[in-house]
Amino acid sequence: MASLLYLLVILAIQGKSFAQSIAPLQTTEHPTERETVILSYKYDSQARSLHWYRQYPGSRPEFLLLVYESNSLLHAEPPFPRMNASVNKVEKHVHLEISSAAVTDSALYYCALESTNYERAHSLV
Ligand SMILES: *[C@@H]1O[C@H](CO)[C@@H](O)[C@H](O)[C@H]1NC(C)=O
Repeated sequence: MASLLYLLVILAIQGKSFAQSIAPLQTTEHPTERETVILSYKYDSQARSLHWYRQYPGSRPEFLLLVYESNSLLHAEPPFPRMNASVNKVEKHVHLEISSAAVTDSALYYCALESTNYERAHSLV
């Protein structure tokens, strides 16, 4: 089997303050090995930053990196070198790019939005 297919799954975060404001553009990806995979979300509120996480079955979510609307990045420490992220401010899309995808990248990937009115929303709860 030269090109092994596998699954990357992304899911919208179900938190009450995020549920309406961020949604995946695709739910599964079936890349071939060593391809660059791009996972995307659409968000529809004011975002301060967008945070990407990865979760393997039975494990806690791991923080990968976050991207600001200005497209500046903040990587986890230690960084995940094959991960990159970008934002299209006009379409309000956020992308996670995984280069040289491998079978071991099969996981649940999700994005959480940190809203500019996050604190205000929370103080109303
Ligand atoms: C990450 O993505 C941004 C936006 O697409 C790009 O400008 C930058 O060169 C990329 N960085 C790497 C290390 O690929």
